[in-house]
Amino acid sequence: MDAALEKRQVERAYELYAPVYDFIFDWIFAPGRAAAIKQLGLARNDSVLEVGIGTGLNLPLYPPTCRLTGIDLSQEMLDKAVERVQTLTRTNVTLKVMDATALDFADNEFDKALATYTISAVPDPVAVLREMRRVVKPGGVLVILNHFRSEGRIAGRLEDLVAPLCTRLGWKSNLALKPLLARVGLEPEVVARLNMFNGWRLVKCVNRK
Ligand SMILES: C[S@@+](CC[C@H](N)C(=O)[O-])C[C@H]1O[C@@H](n2cnc3c(N)ncnc32)[C@H](O)[C@@H]1O
Repeated sequence: MDAALEKRQVERAYELYAPVYDFIFDWIFAPGRAAAIKQLGLARNDSVLEVGIGTGLNLPLYPPTCRLTGIDLSQEMLDKAVERVQTLTRTNVTLKVMDATALDFADNEFDKALATYTISAVPDPVAVLREMRRVVKPGGVLVILNHFRSEGRIAGRLEDLVAPLCTRLGWKSNLALKPLLARVGLEPEVVARLNMFNGWRLVKCVNRK
């Protein structure tokens, strides 16, 4: 049975996680963050969209010369990101509450887009990736960092078994990478395994339109 993740459920979950999110997720996921920003290959003045920016843990990793827009469904998570922008005294960062399945941006508005630990936490990952493709210029770069369903038989079955519980907690444990990319017409240029037990995958795609 596919336990569906709903938008309201995600909002409720991150309202609860916001005060403690950084304590739990900062150190565990740090190696992946640095690698993901590196894969963006940011040049001076590049415009970047970070989808599901959360509390803004990636903010200190962006070069100050890029122009960053961060969106998130959760006001509580974004409030933390606002505090982080102020602490870092960053001036070229715009943060907005927005649903990633209906981005309020024009086609081809950004050079690059990033989603770290987000694509399995959204109710409709296909719609989110399609929107990311739409707002990134042709030839632009999309970087996704996430845990995806394991290709090993036993680990994959285990992830299926715990999926209903994980869905209640706000994310999908068994989102399969290849079918997801195929459905949105993306071909990965880079797939690297990283973080604890190499359990997460860093995926870089060029937006061929
Ligand atoms: C696990 S957190 C990751 C946060 C951040 N990217 C990081 O690396 O720490 C997932 C984030 O995705 C956001 N999110 C979930 N569904 C969303 C949607 N439809 N639109 C925008 N943000 C969404 C959540 O509110 C949450 O902040």
